[in-house]
Amino acid sequence: MSSVAEFEETARERLDPVYYDFFAGAAGDEITARSNVDSFARLCLLPRVLRGSDKRDLTIELLGSRASMPILVAPTAFHRLAHPDGELATVRAAMAADTVMIVSMAATTAIEDVAAAALEVTPEPELWFQLYLQPDLDFSEAIVRRAERAGVKALVVTVDSPVLGRRERDDRHGFHDLPPGMVVENLRNLRGGEPGHVRQIAMSAELSWEHIAWLRQLTALPILLKGVLHPEDARLAVRHGVAGLIVSNHGGRQLDTVPATIDALPEIAEAVAGAVPLILDGGVRRGTDVAKALALGASAVGLGRPVLWGLAAAGQDGVARVLERVREEFDHTLALCGAASPLDLTADLVRSYR
Ligand code: FNR
Repeated sequence: MSSVAEFEETARERLDPVYYDFFAGAAGDEITARSNVDSFARLCLLPRVLRGSDKRDLTIELLGSRASMPILVAPTAFHRLAHPDGELATVRAAMAADTVMIVSMAATTAIEDVAAAALEVTPEPELWFQLYLQPDLDFSEAIVRRAERAGVKALVVTVDSPVLGRRERDDRHGFHDLPPGMVVENLRNLRGGEPGHVRQIAMSAELSWEHIAWLRQLTALPILLKGVLHPEDARLAVRHGVAGLIVSNHGGRQLDTVPATIDALPEIAEAVAGAVPLILDGGVRRGTDVAKALALGASAVGLGRPVLWGLAAAGQDGVARVLERVREEFDHTLALCGAASPLDLTADLVRSYR
């Protein structure tokens, strides 16, 4: 089975270069995107031996969801640019792998259709919905209600996007719109269930903690904030009653030169002190990366681009193979670290010598 890097190679060969660059690209000089990967590589694992840990169990429980491994599908936009089956392929593979898929609001498939495909695979789909809060709160409410009706189990509010990051690869290609026939299906104005006009996603710098309070009184779903990097914001988030945090820099696609997520994680873990679970995404490509993130305080990680590479390379089967590969590498890493479960991964197993 191929590594994530090999899937990226195949995806690059198959994809229109404009779409490859949309997926691979990041903001500015792409310094953060590179450091997400490089910072994992710089950390060392310091394994324990003779621990008698023969039976390994990778399963986790997270905010009422169950996953067969601490490896989730991060929300990414426009899956139909990667493969004609788009989000339907991704969700089938994620549900078959028995893990959580965080469905992007910017999906090219409606959340109702993603949920229906998930239900064909499993009676208990673990779907979370990623939301860019829209300044038109009535419209935001309508999207939340659609997600609730579709049966999602948590809302992930992305807070690192008051404005869109500047992605120079997209600028060079003039890529700013979906091709004809594809739209952001979750932004249709649904009136009486009839498909109507599709809105653009509005990024909004108006958003504040008051909007999180507003969302909390609107829905009983657990709310996670995605894109928190400053420990003070992590503390504020806990005070505002969020259920979890995703330590993320949007794969380096928003503000360039912010820290690698694995470097930001320890301070956030310290600030939150176990009050809410942390998920990390950004640069996770190997089972060893998963182990480092868990050792430094994450309960799970998200995979962004690796899932897109699997999807572009071979549709549903490609996503399934990427998830299985990272699962298998993580299991192997646990064994080599003398660990039997994600909970055995403690901070003393990670060292930085440089
Ligand atoms: C993203 N990401 C993202 N995040 C989000 O909250 N909503 C979205 O619609 C998208 N869309 C999106 C598209 C593409 C092409 C990429 C690469 C990323 C960010 C994503 O959730 C995650 O934070 C990063 O992808 C994690 O980094 P890696 O795994 O790609 O290195």
